Parts: sequence; structure tokens; C-alpha cells
Amino acid sequence: MKKVTLIEGDGIGKEISTSVIKIFEAAKVPVEWDKKPAGLECYEKYGTPLPEETLNSIKHNKIALKGPTTTPVGTGHKSVNVTIRKSLELFANVRPAKTLPGVNTRFGNIDIVVIRENIEDTYGAIEHMETPDVAQTLRIITRQGSFMIHSFAFEYTRNNNRKRLTCVHKANIQKMSDGLFLETFNELSQKYPDIKADDIIVDNLCMQLVTNPEKFDVLVLPNIFGDIVSDLCAGLVGGLGLAPSGNIGKNLAVFEAVHGSAPDIAGKNIANPTALILSSTMMLKHIGMKNYAEKIEQALQNTLKSGIKTQDLGGNYSTTEFTEAIIKEINKTQTYIEVANKEHQSEIRFFDPPSPTPSERWEITGIDLFIEWNKVESLPEIPQKIENLELKMISNRGTKIYPPPVPEILMVNWYRCRYLSDKALSYQDILEFLKKITELQIKWMHIEVLRKHDNKHLFSKAQGE
Ligand code: NAI
Repeated sequence: MKKVTLIEGDGIGKEISTSVIKIFEAAKVPVEWDKKPAGLECYEKYGTPLPEETLNSIKHNKIALKGPTTTPVGTGHKSVNVTIRKSLELFANVRPAKTLPGVNTRFGNIDIVVIRENIEDTYGAIEHMETPDVAQTLRIITRQGSFMIHSFAFEYTRNNNRKRLTCVHKANIQKMSDGLFLETFNELSQKYPDIKADDIIVDNLCMQLVTNPEKFDVLVLPNIFGDIVSDLCAGLVGGLGLAPSGNIGKNLAVFEAVHGSAPDIAGKNIANPTALILSSTMMLKHIGMKNYAEKIEQALQNTLKSGIKTQDLGGNYSTTEFTEAIIKEINKTQTYIEVANKEHQSEIRFFDPPSPTPSERWEITGIDLFIEWNKVESLPEIPQKIENLELKMISNRGTKIYPPPVPEILMVNWYRCRYLSDKALSYQDILEFLKKITELQIKWMHIEVLRKHDNKHLFSKAQGE
């Protein structure tokens, strides 16, 4: 028996988890549930939406199935999902979108898997109010994080007998961050000659997904694009009520339905358990119980094909009636299922990330100084030169406004002043520079140290620079 942590969650969580428990019993899946609390009801009972005991159970069992959890509002608690993903380093979010029989959609034959990087990007939530009018989020993409998600994606593609892996990005605009994501993908693709590796810009992908989705196979994306595109793909095959997901890390994995706790229909016995059932079969495949997974999926498909559906899909069956119908299908074909001969976590190989790349030979060549400044007319008061550092450019909202000509653009009270030096600088030089800027009572929020390597600037230019 494989022990699996089960978080029933709240709202419709208990109803749809009960459905999975009954289906597993009927299919005689050798899984023992270790039920643990999380979510709003748990918060009301224990004062935390995610008790240590629950996290420890996942760490111990290494595998979990999670129902939806309501995020308590106004308590300062982060979402249970985000906390689980981050604290357990579940870096890969896998979201299959496959056409189901009996579900009416615009397209007939979709079978896409979206693999979303789950940790980095804007989801680091590194945010600052720069001025009362300007908010900033740092978008972080790392070589190591990109390596982990891409190597997982290639392994997943190969293990699931898929042929094509497409890297989705916006490297034409975000040349450094998405550029690094794409570069890491291209490097790794050399090791997988059996997989057709290609790439596409995210906006073009979205257009093609809503016109010709059948042509895509596996997609790998940075966090925020993955978040959006995976919901788009779920919509293509019938909506969130059908969308399963897995959050996978090197040693642990948590599978969950994509939808939330649906408080509007909770307790009414009308929720669709399909997304959680499909999450549970993903989980079974992950732990080497493919036969059970296929049996349950077949029973689910037969049920839908025969027109037995919950209300959200235009049917009139309750959660329990729908579940009973699946169980009937399972019983119809109840034959001896060969238990997976070895219980293994996953056939996917995980690799260690590359070690840090040294930056000793990078030279400091200047500073981007971000300041609050109210009047564009008084910008000439900003010093032209401090020691070796010369003011070369000022931009507003990313567009160059100095040296002239000043374009006719909307300007806000937040400016980037780029100072560059002909000579290599030290950190002491930067301190001296900041001391002088501070003495001039210039309100600065932050600086970026500008560097170069082999005469190549390691920072982007402003629009028009
Ligand atoms: P939601 O996904 O719970 O509901 C959106 C709409 O879809 C509602 O009309 C609901 O009735 C319907 N729906 C969702 N799942 C369904 C199902 N299985 N069967 C039939 N209809 C279904 O999103 P909402 O209302 O924005 O969020 C409610 C709560 O869930 C919030 O506290 C949110 O933070 C939380 N949430 C939790 C997630 C998780 O634990 N994985 C994911 C998304 C939201």
C-alpha cells in the first residue's frame, strides 16, 4: 500500500474528494490515505490555513492529492497552494488539456500538456512602491531555475512518448530574462535529438491556440505566461471543472484540481469531481500505477460518453450519481489489474542545476539611478558628472527623454538616470557617488549596478537610446 497525503480542502473539496476515495476503493487502488487539514475551515479551527503537521505529512509521504482550499481574506495568510509549491520547491506545474468525450467544445482533438515554471518570474512577489504613483515588480529568471524546468520538460516529453516540445517566451522584448530562458532551452535540446524542440513568442502562441490548437504537443513556459496559457488551454477543452494539475519537485509531488473551492455551489452535491479525478490519475501515473490510472480514466470517459454529466457540463446528475456511474463502469470491467511491479516515484530523471557561473571578469561600468522627481523642466539640475561617472541618458517609463529631443510622452514622477564611466569602477566609487547624490537631496529609490563583460554591456538600452 502506498501512503498518500489527502487534503480534502473546503467548499466543494470534501464532496469531490469523497468521489475520488470511492472510485479508488472500487478500482482497488493500493493507496492508503493520510488525511490532513488545510484551508479556511482549518484556519478557523487551528488558527493557520496550513498546519506544520500537513506539510510534514507531504514531506514524509512524498506524494499528495489536494482538494481546493479557500484562501482566508484579510488575515495576512498567503494562499495554501503558493506556500506548498514554494516551501516544497515544486518547481514544475504540469497541466494537461485533453479533449474529453461527451464534452462540447469548439475543437475536436486537443491533447496539449502545459509545463509551467512554478517558482520564479514575477511570482517571487518582489514588489516595491517606488513613488506614490509607481509600482514595481521584479521579474526574475535564473539559469538554474530555467535548467530545472526545461530538463523536466524534456524528460516528461520523452517519458510520455510525445514528440514535440515548444518553448514559449517573449525574448524579442525581454531579451535578457526570456533570452536566458530560451538559451537554456536551446542548450538542453542538444541532449534530446529524439524530440522536436522549437520555440514561439507567447502572443503568437495564443493566437494559434485559439485557431489551430490541435497542432501543439508539449509547451514549456515561464511562470506568468504558463499561468495564463494553461487556463486558456483548459478553456479549449471545456473549462476549469475538467482541468487537472500536478506540482512536481525533485522528491515530492502534489496533485490538485485547478479550480477553487466554489463556495457558491458547496454542500449542494452538484460539483463536478472530474478535475480532481483526473488529478488523481495523474498522480497514479507519477507513482508507477499506470494501469489503475488508465482504468479509472476509461471509466470516466465511458460515463461522459454515455451522457451522464454534472450540471456545469449541461447534465442533470449530482456529484454522487456521477460518481456511482463511474464506479459502475469500473465494476463492469473489473478484471485483475497487475500491480505496478515496482513502486517508484517517477520514471522522470531529475538533474542537479548547474553550479553558479563566476562573474569575476565582469567590470562595473556605471549606475542606473532611479529617482523621484516632480518636474521635467528642472531635470537639468541633476548633475551631469560626478567624478568619473557621466550622465548619459535619462528615461521615463522606459523611453529616453535625455539627451534631447524630448518625445511627447506621458511622464510620471519616476526617472532612471544612467551614469556611465570610461574606467572600471569599484564599489567605493559607487558609495562616493551615492553620497554626493544624497547631499544634493535627490530622492533616490534604488540603483542598478551596470556591468560589462568582454566589452559587451550586460544591461538593456532604453527605448530610443
Ligand atoms: P472557483 O474555481 O472556486 O469558482 C469559479 C466558478 O466555477 C464558480 O461559479 C464555481 O461554482 C465554478 N466551479 C468551480 N469548480 C467547479 C466544479 N468542480 N464543478 C462545478 N462548478 C465549479 O473560483 P473562485 O470563486 O474565484 O474562488 C473561490 C475560492 O477558491 C477562493 O478562496 C480562492 O482563493 C480559492 N481557490 C483555490 C484554488 C485551489 O485551492 N487550488 C484555486 C483557485 C481558487
